[in-house]
Amino acid sequence: MNKQHRPYARQKFCFRWRGRRWYDPNERKVIWSALGMALFTLAARILILGLSSTHPTSLMAKSSPAHGIIGTAHDLSSTGLYQVTHATEVCIFCHTPHDSYTGIEQVIPVWNHATTTAQFVMYTSPSVKGTLDSQPMGPSLACLSCHDGTVAMGALHEAPPGGGQSDYSQAGGGVNRTTGLMEGANRLGNDLTAVHPISLTYRDDLNKSLRHPAELIGVRLYPSNAQGGKVQCGSCHDPHNFGIDGGTAPFLRVTKQGSSLCLSCHLM
Ligand code: HEC
Ligand code: HEC
Ligand code: HEC
Ligand code: HEC
Repeated sequence: MNKQHRPYARQKFCFRWRGRRWYDPNERKVIWSALGMALFTLAARILILGLSSTHPTSLMAKSSPAHGIIGTAHDLSSTGLYQVTHATEVCIFCHTPHDSYTGIEQVIPVWNHATTTAQFVMYTSPSVKGTLDSQPMGPSLACLSCHDGTVAMGALHEAPPGGGQSDYSQAGGGVNRTTGLMEGANRLGNDLTAVHPISLTYRDDLNKSLRHPAELIGVRLYPSNAQGGKVQCGSCHDPHNFGIDGGTAPFLRVTKQGSSLCLSCHLM
């Protein structure tokens, strides 16, 4: 571990309990035990899911064992990182294959989580050449439907079989054990003026210090790099995968080391 990056690593490798964090001075030990736990959880889930043959998580876990959502902060099941609910399914908190929201309510493919109705304060800056939507759209609105702290984790269109999704009494991390609302560091609220601009058109034609969309590696524009489009939360974060650097980079598509993430789009 590079000494220069220590403060950041220390900030992220911490134990959380009831929204509070404790930092462990012995980072390596924590890294290895976290890796061990992640592998153990993954193995256990492959076994359990293999036996119960619940699709599609079992398929995902089997096809890409070291990669995926199982055991991350986005695994809100009873065996996920923070054991947010007593449910046993994972994808259900965001998608459902048969009874999802439809039409404009379907902010991402087969969306199953209630969408926030908050009014957001968007980023503004005279130097930005691209155009920001007046409110966050699509894939960013999905993230904010949990991360603005106004919608409970278990507020779903279709509940998992057997229920259990709205009991948060065992939740670790920053989810309130009574309301199921997000609190603490991962709660962004509705003021996006201090967050990298999102729901923003990527205009490399107007801003020459941006790479051409076809040159982008790792990061993602919406709908796609080939078509070009917008910067959304998912441009930097992949909600389905452990960050590229594990716990130090939450769901990040590209490492923060040497600012690689930023330099994936910005030519500076
Ligand atoms: C915490 C929320 C969340 C969970 C849980 C989740 N997804 Fe997603 N998913 C998203 C978001 C947000 C998008 C929109 C595209 C993006 O940002 O990557 C998405 C998009 C997708 C897509 C469309 C492909 C794409 O990249 O646009 C597929 C397929 C998908 N998810 C499958 C799954 C499966 C399978 C699971 C369970 C193993 C799952 N997702 C769990 C949030 C989630
Ligand atoms: C269904 C609710 C839900 C949705 C939708 C959702 N998240 Fe999360 N996310 C969570 C929860 C719960 C946590 C853990 C929060 C905690 O305990 O503090 C989390 C944690 C995170 C973290 C921090 C991870 C860590 O290890 O500390 C990041 C980054 C994140 N989410 C990004 C996103 C992005 C980007 C999207 C959209 C692409 C998204 N989330 C959509 C529920 C959600
Ligand atoms: C330009 C890239 C980028 C975009 C766009 C982006 N993030 Fe992040 N996000 C990061 C990085 C890098 C971190 C790592 C923490 C840090 O260095 O502050 C992070 C950290 C986080 C965290 C962990 C808590 C924290 O503040 O450190 C959450 C939650 C999160 N992002 C959610 C989101 C959501 C939701 C959106 C869309 C509204 C979003 N991010 C858009 C790069 C991005
Ligand atoms: C997916 C591509 C992408 C990534 C990754 C990315 N940015 Fe950006 N960033 C943009 C775009 C597009 C703009 C708007 C530029 C414009 O329209 O003039 C922007 C704007 C900015 C601005 C200028 C805001 C202003 O008010 O003029 C800063 C500063 C910035 N980004 C910093 C960062 C940092 C730091 C990172 C890494 C954590 C990062 N960006 C990662 C695409 C990206």
